[in-house]
Amino acid sequence: MPFELIPHKLVYGGEALGHHQGRTVLVPRALPGERVEVEEHRTAKGVVHARPVRILAAAPERVEAPCPYFGRCGGCQYQHMDAQFQATAKREILRETLRRIGKIDWSADIPLHAANPWNYRNQAELKVRRLPDGSVVLGFFEAESHRLCPVDSCLILSPRLNSLLAELRGLNWSPRLAICQEIEILADDRDERAAMTLRAVANTVEGENLVRDMLANLAGVVGMAIETGGEFKTFGDAQLEYVVGEFRYGVSPGSFFQASRFLLPDLVNAVVAEQDGRLALDLFAGVGLFALPLARRFSSVIAVEAAARAAHDLGANARVYSFDHVRAVAQTTYDFLRRFAQTQPDLVVLDPPRAGVGAQTLELLVSLQPKRIHYVSCSPPTLARDLAYLAGHGYELRSVDLFDFFPQTFHIEALVRLVRRAA
Ligand SMILES: C[S@@+](CC[C@H](N)C(=O)[O-])C[C@H]1O[C@@H](n2cnc3c(N)ncnc32)[C@H](O)[C@@H]1O
Repeated sequence: MPFELIPHKLVYGGEALGHHQGRTVLVPRALPGERVEVEEHRTAKGVVHARPVRILAAAPERVEAPCPYFGRCGGCQYQHMDAQFQATAKREILRETLRRIGKIDWSADIPLHAANPWNYRNQAELKVRRLPDGSVVLGFFEAESHRLCPVDSCLILSPRLNSLLAELRGLNWSPRLAICQEIEILADDRDERAAMTLRAVANTVEGENLVRDMLANLAGVVGMAIETGGEFKTFGDAQLEYVVGEFRYGVSPGSFFQASRFLLPDLVNAVVAEQDGRLALDLFAGVGLFALPLARRFSSVIAVEAAARAAHDLGANARVYSFDHVRAVAQTTYDFLRRFAQTQPDLVVLDPPRAGVGAQTLELLVSLQPKRIHYVSCSPPTLARDLAYLAGHGYELRSVDLFDFFPQTFHIEALVRLVRRAA
């Protein structure tokens, strides 16, 4: 049965929250203060997940979503509000999450770093499916589903990624793509060159013929790879080169690299600016996005990365600049810290995946008594949990910045700087 709801806030995950007959209701594509007719879709842990049926009285911040797939494609959640309102909402969600989960009352400003809210993605994970009529379609998964939403083009992808998507959808390629289930594309900082990885390839010989043809014929594609069970076979350039600030980073297929292109120099600068000293630790280091600029400022940099391929890229990237004082360690942060005994590093950079760092690893970290910690996070809930630990173990929050890396989506990227309180 449809019912009327007036949500009162946006919550992390993209939905708006309201109450109906004493129950908490979450609904996507709605805004605080507007009257929405919704219908119950499912209930989990006492929370009603509803679908919007129609907007009865729109909030002033509502805009017409420009993308025809909005509401079906799982990629974007915020196209129904303007970019300014999205950023304000993210700031409030971040502040509220710090308070609710971390018991951190951050009342000071949260500076916003924002850029063009469209065409910002330098990376795409295209899903490939064969339809019952035999045709092959490319697109993205629908929200919370493995159903494919076929797309012609995507407003948040860079122009190079959109032109490759358009080519791949064409009859020259799409019938042959049915042998794989996923194509990952990374474009470089100039949006000129790209590297592609095919995943879940059913037929090795056909797959290899296909990637050779793609490498020879697709504009801008300089490297191709086939991933099988975590192993990569590469064709053409083995790495894509990505420039951020004064550094070139070689990125192999399978190595993590940031997926949003406009704000990267700003983020790197915010992490390393005004920092120097004897020792910096870059934990969860990827291919060395922060480790290389840190190497200009510290006598010694230890960069820890669990994925062997990325750690290998990191070591090679440091060697290009003859940074002998950068040590790339292919280990989990936890395993590294268990054996590391050099106390009082001047700076520790943390940039974990969504799961955050966790108490076990933080316990080892705080025992080293780092002077400063710069925590880059893509998940406010785990950030708040980890900050609560650090705040309870001698660290004081000095600043919280929001980098709007992923406009049109609910994702929140934040940088928190902490210093160790004087004993
Ligand atoms: C969000 S990415 C950040 C990478 C890098 N700082 C950057 O900005 O490009 C997180 C990185 O941590 C790595 N990672 C995941 N779990 C890890 C762990 N337990 N210990 C160390 N690195 C880990 C991932 O492979 C990934 O490269």
